[in-house]
Amino acid sequence: MARYFLTTAIDYVNSRPHLGTAYEKITADVIARYKRLSGFETHFLMGNDEHSQNVYRRARELGEEPLAYCDRMAQEFREVWARLEISFDDFIRTTEPRHRAGVTRMIERMEAAGDLYEGFYEGPYCVSCEAFKQEKDLVDGLCPIHMTKPDWIREKNHFFRLSKYQARLQAHFDAHPEFLVPEVRRNEILRLLEGGLEDISISRAGQHWGIPLPHDPSSVVYVWADALINYASAVGYGGDEQLFRAWWPANLHVIGKDITRFHCVIWPAMLMSAGLELPRQVFGHGWVHFKGQKMSKSLGTVLEPLEAADRFGPDPLRLYLVKEIPYGNDGDFSWERFEERYNVDLANNLGNLVSRVAAMVDKYRNGVLVAPAAGPGRLAQVAAEAAAAYGTAMDGFALHEGAAAAFRLIDATNEYIAETQPWALAKDPGRSAELDLALHDAAEAVRVAAVLLQPIMPVSAVEILRRVGGTGTTTEPRIADAAWRNAARTIIKGEPLWPRLEAPKSTPSQGARQS
Ligand code: MF3
Repeated sequence: MARYFLTTAIDYVNSRPHLGTAYEKITADVIARYKRLSGFETHFLMGNDEHSQNVYRRARELGEEPLAYCDRMAQEFREVWARLEISFDDFIRTTEPRHRAGVTRMIERMEAAGDLYEGFYEGPYCVSCEAFKQEKDLVDGLCPIHMTKPDWIREKNHFFRLSKYQARLQAHFDAHPEFLVPEVRRNEILRLLEGGLEDISISRAGQHWGIPLPHDPSSVVYVWADALINYASAVGYGGDEQLFRAWWPANLHVIGKDITRFHCVIWPAMLMSAGLELPRQVFGHGWVHFKGQKMSKSLGTVLEPLEAADRFGPDPLRLYLVKEIPYGNDGDFSWERFEERYNVDLANNLGNLVSRVAAMVDKYRNGVLVAPAAGPGRLAQVAAEAAAAYGTAMDGFALHEGAAAAFRLIDATNEYIAETQPWALAKDPGRSAELDLALHDAAEAVRVAAVLLQPIMPVSAVEILRRVGGTGTTTEPRIADAAWRNAARTIIKGEPLWPRLEAPKSTPSQGARQS
């Protein structure tokens, strides 16, 4: 079976996950589930980035041991991801021994390649970015991302000869136009490469919260170098060679658009230096704004993603984020818009369709449908087109178009019911075969749509399949299940999946929170 290894950025644990963090995990989860649906043996990695100074400081502020604090936060993160139905296969923490082994191995290999040297660094450092800055990066002396004054550091550092890899990186981008998507992100990095690369610090002096540099244990590995190596250490680099050979290179790193330089310049150069293959692809997603503002703890626009999931279950939030934001672009979340889409797409459209089909089949056929002799009718063609468009979109990470393709089939099914008027056919015993066909095909179209929506709305898709799928329905559908079936089945009635929200409005408790 073909394998697919995908990852997300690992998160600093100085604050709880917010909607922006959740957006990345949800969209990566949609890709992971789509790959499983498509028959890949999939390995979906997530994790926490613990060796940050902010994490250390936060733990100390709370009077906790840093490691104990990280243990507690790992629990909290995992709970949030579970509530959002994120189906990761592995969760790595950078304080784990397997990670330390991988970091140690890779730094040793880079050192052996002659790519590390000792030097002295003086300049600004933004602790929130955990990044060495140049004066030209600052706006009025402040980090433009965090609006804070960077520290000024002067310390002995070990440097990585990044400059040595400029030509090889450029050649890689030329040979692999798909390496960094979307295109706009790729162009940013190409411009950066053209401007030339300087060597970078790969260690920090005077700290102990981190992984000791193998050849100078008085320093720790710079937190970004430490973090990036998680992608390899999680699959056995430096520990389990067999596992590593099975999964490396990663097929896809899903990351935010602000950290493409780390993933598409520094990380590939580190891998080249260590003699390892490069990941096949990096996707730089956009940011979800909350009412037009960037979501950030320091700016006070944190939104608890669980609040939306608690009120409506994970699927409406997942659908909103996937369907309403072209993947790769920035998007916006507001409660007004979320509730509006909930009513339009779920309560009035898909949810209502599932209920209507079940009610009609119950009323006119006692819940039992036969395979219609005259079938399949015209919806089968619509379903085939939707499935094809969906596959093309999802393969190209146009997740929003994948969602839209499934909803085109749902719209067409609603129209089909309006046109065929099963309630009128039911009054005329001479049109019984037509009624069989109309009911069967409406139910079948809903089944196909549920298969396509499974990666996006995993909980509701399985429930819809249970209601309309009949025997032969599995809780883990495959893309082949999206093919039209002319088949007898029993339809199960149930509670409305998404009750309509009356007079949607946002209340203060639903707004931005300080935390
Ligand atoms: N923790 C970093 C951040 O939140 C992301 C690290 S991603 C990794 O910005 F690749 F370096 F692991």
